[in-house]
Amino acid sequence: MRKTVDFLVIGSGIAGLSFALKAANFGKVCVVTKSHIDDTATKYAQGGIAAVLYHPDTYEKHIRDTIIAGDELSDLKIVELTIRESSERVRELIEWGVDFDKTKTGKFSLAKEGGHSEFRVLHHKDITGKEIEQKLIIAAKENENIEILENHFTVEIITQHHLGVEVSRRSSDITCYGAYIYDPNSKKVRTVLSKITMMATGGIGTVYGNTTNPLVCTGDGIAMVYRAKGQVRGMEFVQFHPTSLFNPKESPSFLITEALRGAGAVLKDENHKEFMQKYDKRSSLAPRDIVARAIDNEMKMSGKEHIWLDATKIRESEIFEHFPNIYAKCLSIGIDITKNMIPVVPAAHYSCGGIATEEWGETSIHNLYSSGECASTGLHGANRLAANSLLEALVFSHRACVKAVEKVNNIPICYKIPEWDTSGTVLNEEMILITQSKKELQAIMSNYVGIVRSNLRLQRALDRLFLLYKETEELYKNSILIPEICELRNMINVGYLIINNAIDRKENRGLHYSLDYPGHKDVQQNVEDSL
Ligand code: FUM
Repeated sequence: MRKTVDFLVIGSGIAGLSFALKAANFGKVCVVTKSHIDDTATKYAQGGIAAVLYHPDTYEKHIRDTIIAGDELSDLKIVELTIRESSERVRELIEWGVDFDKTKTGKFSLAKEGGHSEFRVLHHKDITGKEIEQKLIIAAKENENIEILENHFTVEIITQHHLGVEVSRRSSDITCYGAYIYDPNSKKVRTVLSKITMMATGGIGTVYGNTTNPLVCTGDGIAMVYRAKGQVRGMEFVQFHPTSLFNPKESPSFLITEALRGAGAVLKDENHKEFMQKYDKRSSLAPRDIVARAIDNEMKMSGKEHIWLDATKIRESEIFEHFPNIYAKCLSIGIDITKNMIPVVPAAHYSCGGIATEEWGETSIHNLYSSGECASTGLHGANRLAANSLLEALVFSHRACVKAVEKVNNIPICYKIPEWDTSGTVLNEEMILITQSKKELQAIMSNYVGIVRSNLRLQRALDRLFLLYKETEELYKNSILIPEICELRNMINVGYLIINNAIDRKENRGLHYSLDYPGHKDVQQNVEDSL
């Protein structure tokens, strides 16, 4: 059975829903999400959204902080337009009902995170993402022009490849006609034809064993666009959040927001001594790449499985008011953060690379747009400044919508697209083949492609991954399609892109650090000297 829409939106986080809400003023929108609508990384964002609101902050300061955090690999034009549009996009969020905390004087309460020279992070206690996601869902559900398909897994985007026309990766003439989508009710793959498709599938954290991302973050959009021969870039820049709660039984890992360090918490070693001054003069509030590497080094030297985050100097009233979720979570495992230190460890958190987009959210594939974590807009460069990602999603979903509505009425639906081909497939009864391969992939990525890399580790990772790739492709071709096999395939594709981009980057930059390129100190020194 096929379906025809003006706008197909794949993903239901802040990028997908904010685009859908705007596009719905111009046509029929279908939002497809592979799990429950709120099962997105947006919901897990704690710290908040960076925006320039009050003196003494300025756009120029926020631009400078973003460029420095990105280790000078950000696209200046993209940084400038994102930050200059921040106030307007935040105002729209408030119009959609998002409630940011205010001070007693009625001004917005602003927090600070690593790499920010000013207090500029708008937040809703320590559950900002949940507040945003809930309000966007309410608005989307009330909108008659938006249909939401939950538990529907997007298998592939449709291009002329599906009409039997082969295209090369360098081609500038690939067009997206919609997507093949797995319907859990019929257990069949449906054809959804669209004029415009927005890819907003979020991040990739689950390719690593230890991540703050919800388990749905398997890089599906990036893998689909790569297979469709679209441009993907910067995948070597995987951000590890310095402070996830050390609680080995729990997956995904619980995030301890950087805003806690902004409020005065400090990192301490096994002897309960502060150590960050040894690594950077910004100490516990240095950008994430520096802090995560410092923690990794301390853990390797001490042989311990975690370091400590000491929040006991923060006033109790501030903990209860601003960080109630973290307080309750830690208390649930016996840690009163007003009295005890928190055991923390870095965890995979954010992909700075992804589907290459230009300033209007357009990808290299015609009629396909991308926004949010799966997109590489040029904002983050080699390392994302904390709290810039929700902002990026809002800015580029808005821009994508502006461009898409200019075109939508002139794009014909391509009715020639064939139905999904299921010939020659049989039911795969052995889930162990999938679950075991997933664990192997996570072990390869965590052990060889983590915070500190080397040529030898990356090559070993590539060799091991090749075996998984061959086995999985075979299984995929011969099995009746189920989402689990598609996810595994996507994760292997993403693992390949991370490793391959890491091998190609022959320097130390931002989040990519290799023992084989000792140039990092100089780069870091330059950045520090310019502060
Ligand atoms: O620490 C945090 O609250 C995370 C923020 C972010 O990833 O932007």
